[in-house]
Amino acid sequence: MPQRLARAAGKKAEPGVQHCVNHSCGATYSLGERIYLCPKCGETLEIECRLTRPKSADVLRGYWAAKSASKLPRDASGVWRYLDMLPFEDDAPFVTLFEGHTPLFHAPRSAKYCGLSDLRLKHQGYNPTGSFKDTGMAAAMTQALISGTRTAVCASTGNTAASLAAYAARAGLQAAILLPHGQVSSSKLAQSLDYGALVLEIDGNFDACMRLVQELGDDPSIYVANSINPFRIEGQKTVAFELMEQCAWQVPDHVVVPGGNMGNSTALGKGFQELYDLGLISRLPKLSVIQAEGAAPVAHLFAKLSPKQRADFEHLPEKLEPVENPQTLATAIKIGAPVSWKKALRAVLRSGGKIITVSEQEIADAKAMIGRDSIGCEPASATTVAGIKKLVAAGHIGRKDDVVAVLTGHALKDPDYMIRYHEGTLTAAHGPKDASAPTKPIAGAFRNAPQRVAASKTAILASLERRQ
Ligand code: F0G
Repeated sequence: MPQRLARAAGKKAEPGVQHCVNHSCGATYSLGERIYLCPKCGETLEIECRLTRPKSADVLRGYWAAKSASKLPRDASGVWRYLDMLPFEDDAPFVTLFEGHTPLFHAPRSAKYCGLSDLRLKHQGYNPTGSFKDTGMAAAMTQALISGTRTAVCASTGNTAASLAAYAARAGLQAAILLPHGQVSSSKLAQSLDYGALVLEIDGNFDACMRLVQELGDDPSIYVANSINPFRIEGQKTVAFELMEQCAWQVPDHVVVPGGNMGNSTALGKGFQELYDLGLISRLPKLSVIQAEGAAPVAHLFAKLSPKQRADFEHLPEKLEPVENPQTLATAIKIGAPVSWKKALRAVLRSGGKIITVSEQEIADAKAMIGRDSIGCEPASATTVAGIKKLVAAGHIGRKDDVVAVLTGHALKDPDYMIRYHEGTLTAAHGPKDASAPTKPIAGAFRNAPQRVAASKTAILASLERRQ
């Protein structure tokens, strides 16, 4: 097995550096500095791992393939098996719940629904706490231990919370979680309580919680575990590596993800870019992000960009106009002021992808279709299939293109939504501007309501007959 890649900066150098994503600032900071936004200009930070280029892409591919057969507990993690691509030393206090190694399904019914000949779904909901957050949290909690922190905090629509609660408990750290009161699914809330986190329910939405977390982050005793923390992005980028291994290094034409706080799209973009820079892939897949209509600040900005601005992705607009009162039943992505919008937008533009919106009805029907494929996911994840259907209809995705959608959360994260859809009682707000207006019903186009039947064989056989 080849040696671990040599670090370019010599033996004692750190395995990477944090740099400001704002080109005109260009400030760099050591990995040990616990900062989340550039102290000079307020922009987000990105980690650059100091790696030497491997002798050949095949060597690295073979190395990772060999690790799949390794019996070492660290190699059993779908994050730490890619340690060569991560800003950690070999002797780091690795935190793991055996995240990653998530399945890549063929989804024939969803493919047909979208107008595609094939569609594959990479299901990050198969992670230990049921969402894609776990890969990032393994990295963030490891860095929290390195930095000597005692308490990690996050704002969350529910999944980051569950993931932080679990990984902090595993690392022996205290977790404090800020949730928008009454806006988080009971399954996610239950997970955070079960893992022993301090759960603080705030009167306000996710964006208000996120602002509070940023204020708390100034306190030296607090470690921020949201995706504004660049170590989260490092863990989450490994899904791009795992996906490429599953695709036998054949680059899909399109990879499509939901967009909320925009950490996931940032991470995937970074992962593919690093593979490209190392010569492991010969082109980037087009990365597209789908937002819910009522919570789509980045899609709105994307729609306004001129062709010249789209080509000049290193000089992006300074400001994003937030959505003041975001609305969507896909509560995981009910976010009006995403912190990682700039990094995500850059990744999308660089790859030639799109950022679009889908309606509540489109999300609900796409989710039911993913269910019919025996896969299932939470509502936010279904934006992908809804978005792919639209992008196929618009001609951005060709009917024979190789398309992968990343499903971000497990179906059981939000059972109430599923039951209401199938019973035909799901209703949605009209959008951010008229949130107080009466809600409108969502038609259950693929409705599958439970039936009350008499406790008799004849009644059951009659129900079966009617169903056929
Ligand atoms: N899908 C699910 C299931 C999510 O939980 C989230 C975000 C997203 C998609 C969007 O990902 O924010 O990286 O663009 N959930 C966060 C949370 C905000 O607190 O759990 P993103």
